[in-house]
Amino acid sequence: MRKIMLAANWKMNTTPNEAQELVNQMLPDLRAHSEVEVLLCPPFISTMLVSELIKNSPVKLGAQNAHYADKGAFTGEISPSMLACMCQYVILGHSERRRLFSESNQIVNHKIKSVIKYNLCPILCVGESLEENDSGRVEDVISTQLRQSLEGLSSADVAGLVVAYEPIWAIGTGRAAGGAQANTTIGIIRRVLAAIFDENTAAAARILYGGSANGANITEFLSQPEIDGALVGGASLNAAEFVSMIKHASNAKT
Ligand code: 13P
Repeated sequence: MRKIMLAANWKMNTTPNEAQELVNQMLPDLRAHSEVEVLLCPPFISTMLVSELIKNSPVKLGAQNAHYADKGAFTGEISPSMLACMCQYVILGHSERRRLFSESNQIVNHKIKSVIKYNLCPILCVGESLEENDSGRVEDVISTQLRQSLEGLSSADVAGLVVAYEPIWAIGTGRAAGGAQANTTIGIIRRVLAAIFDENTAAAARILYGGSANGANITEFLSQPEIDGALVGGASLNAAEFVSMIKHASNAKT
């Protein structure tokens, strides 16, 4: 049985004061729903602060990115070794990093290997553009992203792997994928994982949906058999909205 995960990707939002306020607003409800795995991914500058605030709670902490090197002359970057003492997860290969910061599947592969070395769990983001969707290339695009990003890894390496299916056209647009549509693509992702690794690895991996997920549509996603949770952007910046998603999630799949 895969535990439902709701992961909050705050992206480049919240000052440390705002992050503190947001966590304090949510925390009592997050504590009350430990049947859902809740993950907060604040901006790097608030990582330590949030780790203190959620100490002794079931809430998990993630980073939005990491460099692949352990340390060195990489001005402005953060290494997995720096995150390892605070975080459990690292989002890698988000489409914003792929598009705006030119991250290739090869770079994402390098980063995944590096975070695994520090016992951090990667959340590998994949997803197609509108044009790729319209031209019927979803399976091809996603399969290539998965195969190249996971190249050279064993099933033991990816134990605990989380994949987030985030169609680019649904991110920040208010135009979420339909539940059935997301379920179909996530089913494809699971089949590709089975082909790369094995059936057990594919069955154990949690695969999230991301893209305009909110309190009004989360139940539709979680009622699908292949969907194990959501990676939430905008709606996770509003405490009441994110808490409502967690409450819906705690009622789903029981
Ligand atoms: P939105 O929920 O704001 O569409 O963002 C989704 C996302 O990119 C999460 O990583």
